Amino acid sequence: MSTPHIEAKDGIIAKTVIMPGDPLRAKYIAETYLENVEKFNNIRNMFGYTGTYKGKKISVMGSGMGMPSIGIYSYELFKFYDVENIIRIGSCGAYAAELNLYDVLLVDKAWSESSYANIQSGQTGIDTIYPSPILNEKLKKLSNDLNIPITLGTIHSSDVFYRENFKDFEKIRDEHGCLAVEMESFALFQNAKVTGKNAACLLTVSDSLVTHEATTAEERQFAFTKMMDIALGMAE
Ligand code: HPA
Repeated sequence: MSTPHIEAKDGIIAKTVIMPGDPLRAKYIAETYLENVEKFNNIRNMFGYTGTYKGKKISVMGSGMGMPSIGIYSYELFKFYDVENIIRIGSCGAYAAELNLYDVLLVDKAWSESSYANIQSGQTGIDTIYPSPILNEKLKKLSNDLNIPITLGTIHSSDVFYRENFKDFEKIRDEHGCLAVEMESFALFQNAKVTGKNAACLLTVSDSLVTHEATTAEERQFAFTKMMDIALGMAE
């Protein structure tokens, strides 16, 4: 079977898919951590792989950046490929002064001014969507077992990376309790909601809008390993 953006054969994609934004990160995860790897998607170079982790089947696929992109891939995975769980692993920019570079966040609520959920569902006024409590409990336990500290909190899912008014973030932080910003969770959680599936999101702080500190691409490679270790434990 094939969908417009994914060309996977029947049954090849695992029930649980880990989704980094970058398809090359998906390739790296598959090559570094998985055994018996099979590539299932090449369309637009949005690589997807299935393999085993400690003997258990798991898939990893890039989502691209932003809600329209993750919206397409996650909907096809949930709706047409029998995927039950998607765990996004990504980066975020800190809004809260107490967050440090490389801290790992587990999203317990996504707030957005995006029209994604309203347009997707035909409803109005949706600005907050939640991840799966079951997946979040599992991820909390895994991080605890691995001794990796995580911060639980609300994320701002934004449609715009380059804003003209950089002060805006303080208003969003203070009015909506957002600890940090990224660009995908809200669409992923909406798609899980309407398809009756499960989604969660782990994020590593890659930059701070408060202190203006930022990580290099090389440093981020290392920082991502903490999230990957947690997420790979979801293989079943
Ligand atoms: N804005 C939006 N998304 C992000 C950021 C940011 O500053 N950092 C990492 N992902």
